[in-house]
Amino acid sequence: MIKNPDYISKFWEKKILMWETLRYSNWLILYPLSWTVRSRLNRSFNIIKKRVEPSWSVLELGCGSGVLAKKIYKLFASYQGVDFAKNAIESAKIKIDSPNVNFIASNVLDITYEEYNLTIFLGLTDWLDESQMLKLFNKINSPNILFSYTETRAVSKINPYWYYRKFMDRDIGENSYKARTYTHDFICNLLQSRGYTLNIIESSTLFNPGAIVWAKK
Ligand SMILES: C[S@@+](CC[C@H](N)C(=O)[O-])C[C@H]1O[C@@H](n2cnc3c(N)ncnc32)[C@H](O)[C@@H]1O
Repeated sequence: MIKNPDYISKFWEKKILMWETLRYSNWLILYPLSWTVRSRLNRSFNIIKKRVEPSWSVLELGCGSGVLAKKIYKLFASYQGVDFAKNAIESAKIKIDSPNVNFIASNVLDITYEEYNLTIFLGLTDWLDESQMLKLFNKINSPNILFSYTETRAVSKINPYWYYRKFMDRDIGENSYKARTYTHDFICNLLQSRGYTLNIIESSTLFNPGAIVWAKK
């Protein structure tokens, strides 16, 4: 995978706003690639609603243009969003104008995080390799984490996602930047080594390779 952060931020600046439009617009509800991402957003929202307290501070990494932020920011005392893509961050700032909400454009691996009650990251782990995952988990400073990952086991040739990734991740030379999958064991070991216990997990299924994890210290 390419390691150059400039390439990656440009990659996302080109892609993220259209990616969100294709997945979240009501008029594209039947777009075939949208339902797993919509379902991830809705399932995560329901988990958050049930578990948070109004006094909590929340950090969202890889927040895009604030699609989830818009649904959840009123549930918390404060919200901080971080994303590589400057255009997504500008759009998020326009979308939500609240003194308790803040967005910054940055690589999530370049920040030293203060303590937040909850850290959320949906769709981010697909774009971090194993060493970056370890680095991220060393930085996160939260007793609660909610995140998604794509489970290796579920991404087989009988899963349409396998064909989608094969097409999307075709070799483009030195700029190859491919989506990652992780095993359940890797995620469990990582969480355990950082002092977390797995509190809830929505497992991947044959047609939806995305898993959702809530971990707690
Ligand atoms: C697949 S999108 C998911 C967006 C949003 N969380 C959602 O679920 O709709 C991945 C997001 O992660 C961001 N991202 C990827 N790598 C990043 C990094 N190292 N630092 C900050 N943001 C990153 C991208 O810019 C993009 O907005």
